[in-house]
Amino acid sequence: MKLRIGDVELKSPVVAAPMAGVTDYSYRRILHDMGAGLTVTEMVSAKAILYGNKGNDTILRTDEDMGPQAVQLFGSDPLIMASMAERVYGPFDIVDVNMGCPVPKIVGNHEGSALMKDPDLAYRILETMCRVLKKPVTAKFRKGFDDTHVNAVEFARMAESAGVAAVTIHGRTRAQMYSGRADWDIIGQVKAAVGIPVIGNGDIESPEDAVRMMKETGCDGVAIGRGLKGDPWLMRRTVHYIDTGELLHEPDIAEKKAIMLRHAELMCEHKGEHTAILEMRRHLSWYTAGLTNSARLRGAMNDMCTLDDLRAVVDSIET
Ligand SMILES: Cc1cc2nc3c(=O)[nH]c(=O)nc-3n(C[C@H](O)[C@H](O)[C@H](O)COP(=O)(O)O)c2cc1C
Repeated sequence: MKLRIGDVELKSPVVAAPMAGVTDYSYRRILHDMGAGLTVTEMVSAKAILYGNKGNDTILRTDEDMGPQAVQLFGSDPLIMASMAERVYGPFDIVDVNMGCPVPKIVGNHEGSALMKDPDLAYRILETMCRVLKKPVTAKFRKGFDDTHVNAVEFARMAESAGVAAVTIHGRTRAQMYSGRADWDIIGQVKAAVGIPVIGNGDIESPEDAVRMMKETGCDGVAIGRGLKGDPWLMRRTVHYIDTGELLHEPDIAEKKAIMLRHAELMCEHKGEHTAILEMRRHLSWYTAGLTNSARLRGAMNDMCTLDDLRAVVDSIET
C-alpha cells in the first residue's frame, strides 16, 4: 500500500516522527536505511532561521539520498514561516508544520500546540505556506489543547481547506504532554472527516501496534516516536510486517553493537567527537536498556569522552 503526500510517494506508510534531541542527521540516516517511508527533522524555529542562529545548520543537515524527508518548522508568523521554509527546504521533499509541541516556552510564544487554540492564525500560516511553497506542506498536531478544547477534527478540516497535503495526528491533548494513553478514536474521527492522507501517531511500540492502529482507525500511515529510541529495528520490523505480515526477529547483540558504532561514527562526523560522545551516552543507554549488564554499562557510558572510549564500552557488551 503506497502513501502519497502531494507528489511525493512514500515507499512505506511508516514515518519516523520528529523528536528534538533524537532524530538528528545521524539517526535519520539510520532510520532511512531501516526503511522509513519518511523521516522528519527535529523541529526548527522559523524565527531562529531568520536570525541566523548557528544551531540550525546542525539540525538542517541532510543528504539528498535520504529522501523522502521532511523539514519541520515551528512559528506563528505566516510570512516568516513561508519565507524561511523557502530558504531551507532545498534538499527536503516536504515541509511539516509543528502545531503540537507542548513545551511551555513554545506555547507561551503562541507557537506549537498554542495554535490549536487559534485556528484562524493556524489557517493563515498553512494557507500562506501552501500558496507560496512549491513543495507539499503537512501539519502535525494533537487531539486538542486540553480536555475542554478537543478540536482535532475541526482543525484537520481547517488544515485541509488551507491546502495541506496530509496531517499527522497525535492522540493526546497538550495538557497530557506525553502521559496517559493516546486516544486512537480521535485518529479515526479525523480520518473520517478529511480526504487527505491521515498519519496516526501515539503509543506504537511494536509492528503489531502499527497494524492495529491502521485497522482500528483507517489511517493511511503511522508515525512512530519514542518506540524508536534505541530501537531503529522497530522501523524495519514494522515496515516488513505491514508489507508481508511476517514478524522479523528482534536484532541480536552483534547487530545492536554494529548499529551503536555506526550511529556514533555518523554523529562524530556530523557534530564533532566531543558533542557526539556526550549525546551518544543517552542513545547508548537506550540501546542497552534491558541487557543483563546494563547497570554496569551505564556507569561506563557516563565516563565516555572519546570515540575510542565508546568503542571500548560497546566491545565490553557481552554477546
Ligand atoms: C524527546 C521528544 C522530542 C520530540 N520532538 C518533537 C518535535 O521536534 N516535533 C514534533 O512534532 N513532535 C515532537 N515530539 C512528539 C513526537 O513526534 C510524537 O508525536 C510523540 O512522541 C507521540 O508519539 P509516540 O507515542 O510514538 O512517542 C517529540 C517527542 C519526544 C518524546
